[in-house]
Amino acid sequence: MVHFFKIIDRGTNAEGKEQIEVIWVDADEKDQVEDVQICVVMVGLPARGKSLIARKIVNYLKWLSINAKSFNVGTYRRTETPKPGAEFFDTNNTEGERLRRAAAEAAVTDMLQWFSTGGHVGVLDATNSTKSRRKWIKEQCEARGCQVLFVESKCEDDEIIDKNIRSVKVNSPDYKGSDPEEAVRDFMNRIRNYERVYQTIDDDEEKDLTYVKLVDVGTQVVINNIENYLQTRVIYFTMNLHITPRSIWLSRHGESMFNVSGQIGGDADLSPRGMMYAEKLPDLVSKIVPEGTKLKLWTSTMKRTIQTAQFLPYEKKEWKALDELDAGVCDGLTYPQIEAKYPADFKSRDDDKYNYRYRGGESYRDVVIRLEPIIMEMEREDNIMIVTHQAVLRCIYAYFMNIPQHRSPWMAIPLHTVIKLTPGAYGTEMEMFNAGIPAVSTYREKYGSAEMGESEGAASADLSMLADTAKTSQEPDSVPTGPAPVEKLEKAAAKAAAKLGAVGESVGELAHKLEQEIETIEDKVREQKEVIEEAVLKRRRSLEVRGKKDTDGDTLLME
Ligand code: F6P
Repeated sequence: MVHFFKIIDRGTNAEGKEQIEVIWVDADEKDQVEDVQICVVMVGLPARGKSLIARKIVNYLKWLSINAKSFNVGTYRRTETPKPGAEFFDTNNTEGERLRRAAAEAAVTDMLQWFSTGGHVGVLDATNSTKSRRKWIKEQCEARGCQVLFVESKCEDDEIIDKNIRSVKVNSPDYKGSDPEEAVRDFMNRIRNYERVYQTIDDDEEKDLTYVKLVDVGTQVVINNIENYLQTRVIYFTMNLHITPRSIWLSRHGESMFNVSGQIGGDADLSPRGMMYAEKLPDLVSKIVPEGTKLKLWTSTMKRTIQTAQFLPYEKKEWKALDELDAGVCDGLTYPQIEAKYPADFKSRDDDKYNYRYRGGESYRDVVIRLEPIIMEMEREDNIMIVTHQAVLRCIYAYFMNIPQHRSPWMAIPLHTVIKLTPGAYGTEMEMFNAGIPAVSTYREKYGSAEMGESEGAASADLSMLADTAKTSQEPDSVPTGPAPVEKLEKAAAKAAAKLGAVGESVGELAHKLEQEIETIEDKVREQKEVIEEAVLKRRRSLEVRGKKDTDGDTLLME
């Protein structure tokens, strides 16, 4: 079969050589990848896992460097009506109807505005439960040149719905501070109100729509009218998702002989302390994994992860894709040796660690690409434990915790610690369990000294750094256009100052919190700036490409 690859990014590597990033496409799709803008419209009754699916689609695409964003109509509705009772959702309630319509319009307006700044995949997260609502959204999007993909989640299994309500909905901002049983009752009534008007996507009347229907958590899947590669990719991802609760346990291998000597890469054995961690792991895991949980255990193909997992009594699988980032010519060197031998590379890596590719080795971006099938497989599985390496864990963690690319390679992932991730509709919960066995810290901060070494409390410093990362990464994807970042900053400062006077907390503590808030805001501003710059660049490039495509060979034919 004839395939094409299309250049989606272009730059230079550390040696000044041209570096291109390509994506595979089928023959008749080759012209569509770069310019396509898709609005993914969620459809379904409340408590069918729509927000979780929406959030997962966005995180997955962002992780793959596709500019994606979720627009949750509930978030818009909450600005006017933060905690409505079930009666608000009764279609006979005209004021309720007006406010809900206004919220949907505001979300769609913001989404279309975002598309005009270069967004690629916007997800409209709402029930969109009537044919007329879907028709209106389609018209709005198509008028702006955006394709529309409907993703309907249907579920009639009362047990799953009940579980979803109890585990997710009672914790939703709509019920903050309410009695959980009262919240469940009210939510059931809300569903009843929706059921009165809900129309599933009609396979005849709405046959011109592009859609995927996920029935009973993906037990049955109906796909209709798919138009291009990006839609296929989103659909394939949603087909692999399950919305039932589960957890993922992650651990680095135990301390290795290379960790002790400060060398990177290699295939070293565990150090004596690393071996102690391996021996302690079954006991630690038995305390943090609920009894009777069926767990699959994945490791890389390297000795240090296999040795770490050797005493765990679970079904094991080794994955080459889980091997540590390949440091190429620097494999086996220490950071000071790399700095001495390749000073320009050492600096380039600190300047842009995500994109820097070791000579003859890999970048974090490369690792993400090779991890994509692992992520897909992780989505299909239930409870999994993964024992792998620092860089690989940063990439996996970034996927689940929605950490931006400029931060993920700088996260501290402590040794001798199990990290538990529990994905949910409103973010992923993170817990850490330290085995209490000392280890070196392999963490080197940006522009920090190349010298590493064992410091007192290294592990606990790494632990608290990771905990901070988790706290600052769980913001919703999109909130209604509100105060600008600077205003937010001022508000945060005012809040902190008020707290200072009122409760007399220590100045140091508050200053620290404030610093963190500022950091989060700065991150967001930087992220937005990057998105805009990237969009402008891509547009410019795409215009150039369209003008010259036949002569400069940007679209290459491959066998
Ligand atoms: O130091 C341990 C290690 O796993 C190395 O093998 C690997 O090169 C490194 O961590 C990755 O971390 P960083 O990207 O911060 O250098």
